[in-house]
Amino acid sequence: MKYVLGVDLGTSGTKTVLFDEEGRAVASASKEYPLYQPENGWAEQEPDDWWLAARDTIRGVLDKSGVNPADIACLGISGQMHGLVMTDAEGNALGRSILWCDGRTGKQCEELTRRVGKERLIAISANPALTGFTAGKVLWVQQNDPERWAKARHIMLPKDYVRYRLTGEYLCEYSDASGTNLLDVPHRRWSEEIAAALGLDLSLLPPLRESSAVCGTITKEAAAETGLCCGMPVAGGAADNMAGAIGTGVARAGKAFTTIGTSGVVYAHSDSVQIDPAGRVHTFCSAVPGAYTVMSCTLAAGLSLKWFRDTFCRAEIQAAEEMGTDPYVLMNEEAARSPVGANRLIFLPYLMGERSPLLDSDARGAFIGLSAMHTRRDLLRAVMEGVIYSQRQNLDILRGMHVVPETMLACGGGAKSPFWRQMMADVFGMPVATAQSTEGPALGAAILAGTAAGLYASVPEACEKMIREDEPLLPDKAKGEAYEPYYRLYASLYPNLAESYARLAKL
Ligand code: XUL
Repeated sequence: MKYVLGVDLGTSGTKTVLFDEEGRAVASASKEYPLYQPENGWAEQEPDDWWLAARDTIRGVLDKSGVNPADIACLGISGQMHGLVMTDAEGNALGRSILWCDGRTGKQCEELTRRVGKERLIAISANPALTGFTAGKVLWVQQNDPERWAKARHIMLPKDYVRYRLTGEYLCEYSDASGTNLLDVPHRRWSEEIAAALGLDLSLLPPLRESSAVCGTITKEAAAETGLCCGMPVAGGAADNMAGAIGTGVARAGKAFTTIGTSGVVYAHSDSVQIDPAGRVHTFCSAVPGAYTVMSCTLAAGLSLKWFRDTFCRAEIQAAEEMGTDPYVLMNEEAARSPVGANRLIFLPYLMGERSPLLDSDARGAFIGLSAMHTRRDLLRAVMEGVIYSQRQNLDILRGMHVVPETMLACGGGAKSPFWRQMMADVFGMPVATAQSTEGPALGAAILAGTAAGLYASVPEACEKMIREDEPLLPDKAKGEAYEPYYRLYASLYPNLAESYARLAKL
């Protein structure tokens, strides 16, 4: 039996999982690291903390599993997207990495948009300049930390730095590269035009490979540190969302997933490049060679329900503790006692502003239609419906771009709720299944590793061998029709409120 390793470099920590050839998790280990916020809205991490976490968790799974390292065919890495890592000529990290959730680059994003032109930037990089993305961070370092910039010889993304520490090779792969605002996404090469607009020498950017290509082998030093065999191949791996897609089997047209975690994602596979000219949803390269994805990122999906729980559901939290259950289980039961439409109450989930589809950091949450007859259960149901309407709005944008999913997989903490999943099936009007493995990105990285090592002929074939889905929940047609007018009303609310939100932000 051969094994594959998946390393998932997240924001709160790194999780490494060893899988067998059939996708069964054999052992896993996690290690957390700090997130530094030296100023309001900044978010940084130490690249060496990522390396130490990868090293220790790899050692951890080898020890726990007792598997002979010689039986591990390959390793793949999934990583948090968009972060800027710079190294000097010797490969030493130059200070902390500026992360995907760092918001310091508003001014630089405006400048990049001015220099390249909004339409042109979206046509090339498939996305508008966003503060989370890498290009704005490059400009920020040039303008605010010129000494560090002068020493920079290599620019990398977080997981590529860890792969570099394992293999000694400076390489990037297409899925992560497409989240930088620096890649010519339709042509799958670094954009000379954007680099020139930034005054960025293209030699700082690493050569590009596919996610399932071998991108180096374990060096003697890395073997001594991790316990892996020297010479073992390492795959390109993928950005976390794209690795998560592979780990849930979203590897061919018609397949899609929706995540309800803190934030929410609607992600669909596409064989061809499809770009929203308004930039409301992201187009990225998929981890399947030559393929693409269209993906939305809404900021407060599960976070909206968590906010409601922590603010209004003390009684459920206490009762759940006494009953030895989860407060969300009790909250679901309560929400289910309110009818479709929550007695004519609509919730807008813009508690953190909104990325997709509004691109408006001033937007804020709202209950519309609040009446003296409403009880807490209506508010609760309205919150859950509002989150699903926001995901449906993004799904409708994807459908308008001719990226039309046939089946949907529900992922993230919110997917544990059968009530929320059924609501998703009814509002989306399509079957909603769940993947049996909850290791999404780590499993995706391991599948890419298995493909790179030649255990499987292709990424989709590996998904078929390694992923099992539960029976899908089917949409209830009558309920779907009942939701429809509420969804339509929901979609019409933000345009009427946008100006008020902007005024509110200035008060
Ligand atoms: C995607 C995004 C996040 C990060 C989290 O655009 O910003 O999902 O990848 O790691």
